Amino acid sequence: MSTYTASDPRKVTTRRLAEMKAKGEKIAMLTAYDYSMATLIDQAGMDVILVGDSASNVMAGNTTTLPITLDQMIYHAKSVMKGVKRALVVCDLPFGTYQGNSLEALASAIRIMKESHAEAVKLEGGEEVIESVRRILSAGIPVMGHLGLTPQSINKFGTYNVRAREEAEAEKLIADARMLQDAGCFALVLEKIPAQLATRVSAELDIPTIGIGAGGGCDGQVLVMHDMLGINQGFSPRFLRRYADLATTITDAVGSYITDVKSTSFPNEKEQY
Ligand code: KIV
Repeated sequence: MSTYTASDPRKVTTRRLAEMKAKGEKIAMLTAYDYSMATLIDQAGMDVILVGDSASNVMAGNTTTLPITLDQMIYHAKSVMKGVKRALVVCDLPFGTYQGNSLEALASAIRIMKESHAEAVKLEGGEEVIESVRRILSAGIPVMGHLGLTPQSINKFGTYNVRAREEAEAEKLIADARMLQDAGCFALVLEKIPAQLATRVSAELDIPTIGIGAGGGCDGQVLVMHDMLGINQGFSPRFLRRYADLATTITDAVGSYITDVKSTSFPNEKEQY
């Protein structure tokens, strides 16, 4: 039984997210990568579903988000879109599809919108990618920014530690956040930065901030579905709250099935024709 009922049953739009920020209503965002899970997450009342490039890790088993391709992201987003009625669906632009030049970025974003029917794109970075952001927005495609820990730059950072603890990096993040807002981004993910900094950015911006490991001062929160459902057991950062232990539920259920098959208790007479 779901314990949550969305107060507004209408389709979530970027405009609605702006209204939520204005009213102080927190925004819930979660990742999904396939039809079945997206259907359940949408039915539970999620505001935003992110087809994250974390699919590279949790779906494809890669150690970073870098290998996932545009075709693979479109495949995931297309599957998610078939299950979603209410949530706003945002799809990540994968590494290497928007940093090179803004025309390539626009072409990548157009492919996502045309082929998957996702409703917005997300990309990582500030000033370095601002031309791409502006070009995509000029085609009427909503863009969500992503600052702080940007996993596509893991080879530059060298770690997944908290970002922007030092003043210079914090100042750059604030300037980047303003630049993304001024360019026309409708929202901004803030990943793994000090809560105080995220609170300040959220207060200074008119657009909503969605935090992950960035504290309660953000206008919303996002988690990776496999992490919060306890499917991905090996990942337990301080910011993660687990809402289920599906790894145990699934291995127990699968173990019972194997036992039943081996012992010939499945199928029984009622389970055959
Ligand atoms: O790819 C992803 O899942 C993300 C979230 C962690 C924000 O970008």
